[in-house]
Amino acid sequence: MKIITLGDDLLRKVTSSVENIDAETADFAEKMIETMIKGNGIGLAAPQVGDLRRMFVCQVPDKDPMVFINPEIIGTSDSQVMFEEGCLSIPQVYSEVKRPEVIAVQAWNEKGKIFKLEAGGILARVIQHEFDHLNGVLFIDHLSDFKRNKLVKLYNKKIRA
Ligand code: CO
Repeated sequence: MKIITLGDDLLRKVTSSVENIDAETADFAEKMIETMIKGNGIGLAAPQVGDLRRMFVCQVPDKDPMVFINPEIIGTSDSQVMFEEGCLSIPQVYSEVKRPEVIAVQAWNEKGKIFKLEAGGILARVIQHEFDHLNGVLFIDHLSDFKRNKLVKLYNKKIRA
């Protein structure tokens, strides 16, 4: 699987719900997990591999990989925290982003089983970042124009180097 990068229109599309969670969906999720691990990432959303299905995978340190299909964020804490983010589709640049500290999410896994989860820390962060991808939103969209322009300039410089 190839990871597409900033500038590719597919990263800006809103994804469509997965109607049937079948063997092919599970196989696709497995390939996404492999691609994420190979890229040293902790999360990967389907649009990042050019597929507009509403699903993402993640793996935070010391935990098993997780698959989120048709996820919904069903609750967010009032408290917000800054946390450094990066993205496999915008490699080599990082920035602090402010988001809710704790979230509740509902999704289906690759076996077609629904689950609910409350997450804090790095898991809350990666879920919110990947969820954004399903709506065509990138972490740089959360920055001020000034910071975003600076980061994109740096990114363009780094990928040309
Ligand atoms: Co990303």
